[in-house]
Amino acid sequence: MDAPSVIRTKRDRGELTDAQIDWVIDAYTRGEVADEQMSALAMAILLNGMNLREISRWTDAMIRSGVRMDFSALGVPTSDKHSTGGVGDKITLPLAPLVAACGAAVPQLSGRGLGHTGGTLDKLESIPGWRALLSNDEMMDVLRGSGAVICAAGDGLAPADKKLYALRDVTGTVEAIPLIASSIMSKKIAEGTGALVLDVKVGSGAFMKNLPDAQELARTMVGLGKAAGVNTVALLTDMSTPLGLTAGNALEVRESVEVLAGGGPADVVELTLALAREMLAAAGVHGKDPADALRDGSAMDHWRRMISAQGGDVDAPLPVAREQHVVTASSSGVLTGLDAYAVGVCAWRLGAGRARKEDPVQAGAGVEIHAKPGETVTAGQPLLTLHTDTPERYDYAMEALAGGITISPEGTAFTPKPIVLDRIA
Ligand code: URA
Repeated sequence: MDAPSVIRTKRDRGELTDAQIDWVIDAYTRGEVADEQMSALAMAILLNGMNLREISRWTDAMIRSGVRMDFSALGVPTSDKHSTGGVGDKITLPLAPLVAACGAAVPQLSGRGLGHTGGTLDKLESIPGWRALLSNDEMMDVLRGSGAVICAAGDGLAPADKKLYALRDVTGTVEAIPLIASSIMSKKIAEGTGALVLDVKVGSGAFMKNLPDAQELARTMVGLGKAAGVNTVALLTDMSTPLGLTAGNALEVRESVEVLAGGGPADVVELTLALAREMLAAAGVHGKDPADALRDGSAMDHWRRMISAQGGDVDAPLPVAREQHVVTASSSGVLTGLDAYAVGVCAWRLGAGRARKEDPVQAGAGVEIHAKPGETVTAGQPLLTLHTDTPERYDYAMEALAGGITISPEGTAFTPKPIVLDRIA
């Protein structure tokens, strides 16, 4: 077997054989297939696609490149959620302790932000003392003690995906349905969860910009999960505008704690509850209603235990950026658009995200939103507050907002998009 012949098969719109797929994933993980050869193959896959057999084999080969975890010793049903990535998407933070409070265990292996979408680990690291890196034994201990754990995936889990994802990020080959589906599902199946709810984001701030593409991605992932014995369901949810009122690490932790305290923005609460109900149903746990667990403080108790168990000081003040700059409404009328991608790039440029994997992020940087689409605004009224430790970035960050804020004449009808657009099971 050799890399050029595998690349040529896909370049010429052929089907890769099982043997070709097994070989190329294994050889790439071992460093025998070079990055430039894997980039060419990834681009051929992006352009020419893969059928379900190829995607399933590719996923399986990536799972076999590393270890598989097993939580059966817990004796409690496990349920996990994975989002395909969005702006202001802090849902994992309130969701994991909420589902734990309702009786399922949540082993959540999360990632860091890259590009305009935020990462759960970056958000939690803004809590003083909190540690993302846990050994397998520590992960089990946190899970036993608090019912939920959010941590980084160890190096042994789907190492082929770790290498390939970093390569795709710099070769313009992220947005390929077969590659996204196999990347996400290889990690989730290797993680060993019994049930999985996928939050497939749709809109300007997501990888999938339109519903038919998102439906195809969701169907592919649900099929892969079920074939591997994981009870998998997907919700397709709106990402045309940011979720909640914050985009940025510490800002989003603050908002998540508000949700756990029984408050928080309506869209964040609605999506958290919808995903919690799906996770519990997929795990076969029919005890407490998640809305009650937000009201009675039990979700907050699980959050405090989970964060403390990972070294976090739940009572410490969260970091605040050194400088703030207010963006006001340029005219009076109805705010009919606040574009998720524009706000995401703005937050990223303010320092909330990173351009390269090794870059640090600013814990306090990001965007606070004062008006959501559908609200009436008056000229000069604050719409956004931009937070950063590096105010020299304001102009660059503001450029990202150009065309991203739409104010229509007073009286313009506005129909809000539902948060949950579709469900695929
Ligand atoms: N998240 C992943 O883990 N992989 C992708 O390819 C896209 C989003």
